[in-house]
Amino acid sequence: MTVDIQKLIDAAKEVRLHAHAPYSGYRVGAALIDDTGTIHTGCNVENAAYPEGTCAEANAIGSMVAAGGKRIVAIAAIGGAEEIEACTPCGGCRQNISEFADKNTRVILIGEGNRIDSYTIDELLPAAFKFRD
Ligand code: THU
Repeated sequence: MTVDIQKLIDAAKEVRLHAHAPYSGYRVGAALIDDTGTIHTGCNVENAAYPEGTCAEANAIGSMVAAGGKRIVAIAAIGGAEEIEACTPCGGCRQNISEFADKNTRVILIGEGNRIDSYTIDELLPAAFKFRD
């Protein structure tokens, strides 16, 4: 499947505008394309009980699973307080992405100055815990 990376980045940028991040002030948007070619998006959603907030990547993955998607072909994330900053997925999100990724899955991160970095999940989470393989 050919992935339109720019389309994914644009979707992540757009959904970031909906982030609910009144506590950290750090807004994140994530967009993924699944094995059916469908794009799913998510933003971070915080609440007053700080640890109960959810990450953008987790919400995009939840949306994919709810819609019947099985695998992540590529996922893009973009975040920052005011300006876009380098935003790499937290440890929990790496495990979450790993659940639905394979060696070809691209994890695309937008850094300062709109720099685009692309990783495999193996690079971001070496020796990932897998319940079965
Ligand atoms: N956050 C994400 O949504 N994704 C990440 O990969 C890193 C962190 C959110 C969680 C919290 O709402 C805010 O960014 C600051 O940590």
